[in-house]
Amino acid sequence: MIEIKNAGKTYRQGTSEIHALRNVSLGIDRGEFLSIMGPSGSGKSTLLNLIGGLDQPTSGEIFIDGRALHGISDDELTLIRRRRIGFIFQFFNLLPILTAAENVALPLLLDGTPFSRLKSKAVTLLEQVGLGARTEHRPEQLSGGEMQRVAIARALITDPAVLLADEPTGNLDSHTSEDIFILLANLNKKGQTIVMVTHDPKAAAYGTRIITLKDGVLSGDSSHAMEGR
Ligand SMILES: Nc1ncnc2c1ncn2[C@@H]1O[C@H](COP(=O)(O)OP(=O)(O)OP(=O)(O)O)[C@@H](O)[C@H]1O
Ligand SMILES: [Mg+2]
Repeated sequence: MIEIKNAGKTYRQGTSEIHALRNVSLGIDRGEFLSIMGPSGSGKSTLLNLIGGLDQPTSGEIFIDGRALHGISDDELTLIRRRRIGFIFQFFNLLPILTAAENVALPLLLDGTPFSRLKSKAVTLLEQVGLGARTEHRPEQLSGGEMQRVAIARALITDPAVLLADEPTGNLDSHTSEDIFILLANLNKKGQTIVMVTHDPKAAAYGTRIITLKDGVLSGDSSHAMEGR
């Protein structure tokens, strides 16, 4: 469903170049829960941002559902990003003035759909993540784990082809983190494709497949033994 072909990403800083990713090729199937591991600076976030169309590779190609993310207009890319991809981040990125239900509805509110038409779906998603009793709370009235659940529900409102998560529990204690991983694993069991960046081996083990990056190169893939492992 996601095809990454020889993707590279080079950042230029003055006269020096940083090769954040080198020649990464990877296919991700529908229904997978892929964990991306690797040390700090190994290119994990860079790879996730390329998959999500938040950033463009300097070489290579990326396809989602057979559609290339390169050579398309910014408007088309924005639409794919908004409709086909769900993002969750370490710092939740909820809007403080909106209720939980409004935050969940936000991606579709931005398209101009009125909240009255989105509310029941937003509430259903909040119930799915265990927050049926918190739909009218604002972020400041929620715990960190609850805020991340709201962010997960928000990422799901467009029925995305893939849910992308970058260190989704980096800001949470270990017990709350485990609850979030269990929630993600349950979503995956219901069919949701997930790609998660983590540096924690225990977190990565919730995935159905683990890949490892080292200095921007794919150095391990649990779905087929690679040399040097
Ligand atoms: N916008 C940028 N400009 C220049 N260099 C960058 C930029 N973004 C990332 N890099 C560099 O690219 C490399 C890979 O960064 P990336 O954020 O993908 O690492 P990471 O594996 O996610 O690390 P962490 O675990 O610390 O989040 C790093 O050396 C980083 O300094
Ligand atoms: Mg990162």
